Amino acid sequence: MSESPTRLVTAVIVVAAGSGQRLGYGMPKAAVPLGGEPILMHALRGIVASGVASQVCVALPAGDDGLRRMCDDFRDELGDGGPLLSVVDGGSTRSGSVRAGIAALMEGTEAVLVHDAARALTPESVFHRVSDSLAAGADAVIPVLPVVDTIKTVAATTGDNTALAPEVVTGTARREELRAVQTPQGFRAATLLRAHQAAQELDPEQAAAVTDDAMLVEMLGTPVHAVRGSTQSLKITTPLDLIFAEGLLEGPLGARWVEG
Ligand code: CTP
Ligand code: MG
Repeated sequence: MSESPTRLVTAVIVVAAGSGQRLGYGMPKAAVPLGGEPILMHALRGIVASGVASQVCVALPAGDDGLRRMCDDFRDELGDGGPLLSVVDGGSTRSGSVRAGIAALMEGTEAVLVHDAARALTPESVFHRVSDSLAAGADAVIPVLPVVDTIKTVAATTGDNTALAPEVVTGTARREELRAVQTPQGFRAATLLRAHQAAQELDPEQAAAVTDDAMLVEMLGTPVHAVRGSTQSLKITTPLDLIFAEGLLEGPLGARWVEG
C-alpha cells in the first residue's frame, strides 16, 4: 500500500444549526440524544478521534446556550492537546452556517472539511480518505456511495402520489453513473472561499437549489473528486434514522461499529 501524503493544516466546519423539523423532537437536531449523548457530541468525538483537524468550528443555532455549554465543556475535556474548538452562530440556511464557519477560520488554514453534525457516526476512515485526497493534490473531495435503488425522474406533481393522482415517470437514470453524496466534503481553503463568494451572486431560486458545497465548486468549473463513503455515515434525518443509529451504537458489533 502507498503511504499517506503529509496532511494539510485542516479545519473542520461542523454545521449543527438546523432545527431538526423532520426528526420532530421540538429541539435542534444537534441536541437530540443518541445513545445517551447529544448527536453533536458524537460528531465532535468522531472528528477529534480522526486526528485530521487543527481547528473544529461548530455552527450552532443562534442563542442555544445548552449546546454552547456542551462545546465549552468538550473544549475543557480536550485540554491543550486537542484541536482549537470554536463556536459560531449558524445562519438561517445550511450555506449560511457554512459561511459563518468560514468567517471563523484560523489564519494559515490550508484545507477545510465541511461536515454535517447529523452524520454523527461517520467513521474515522472517511475523514482520512477525504483528507489524504486533498493532501495528494485534489481541490475538492466528496465521500460517496453507490446507489442501491433504481432512480427515476418524474414530471411535476401534486406530491400526493395517490392511486388517483399518481406522478408520471419521465425517465430512468443510469445507476452506474449515480452516487449518493455524504459529508465531510473537503476543499482547499482558497477553493471553498471562492465557491462561497461566487454563491453570493446567485439569485434566490438558484441559491435554494444548492444542496451541498461541492455543487458550488462544480459551478466554478473546478474538478470535484469522489472517494468511498460509508453506510455508517448515514444522515440522521427522520425518527427511523435515529432508531438505526441507536442500533449501530448498541448492536452486537460494539459501541462504535466501524464500516470502513
Ligand atoms: N444546518 C445548519 N444550518 C441550517 C440548516 C441546517 O447548520 N440553517 C445543518 C444541520 O444542523 C445538519 C446539516 O446542516 O447538521 C444538514 O441539514 P439537515 O439534515 O436538513 O438538518 P436540519 O435542517 O436540522 O433538519 P430539517 O431539515 O429536518 O429541519
Ligand atoms: Mg434542513
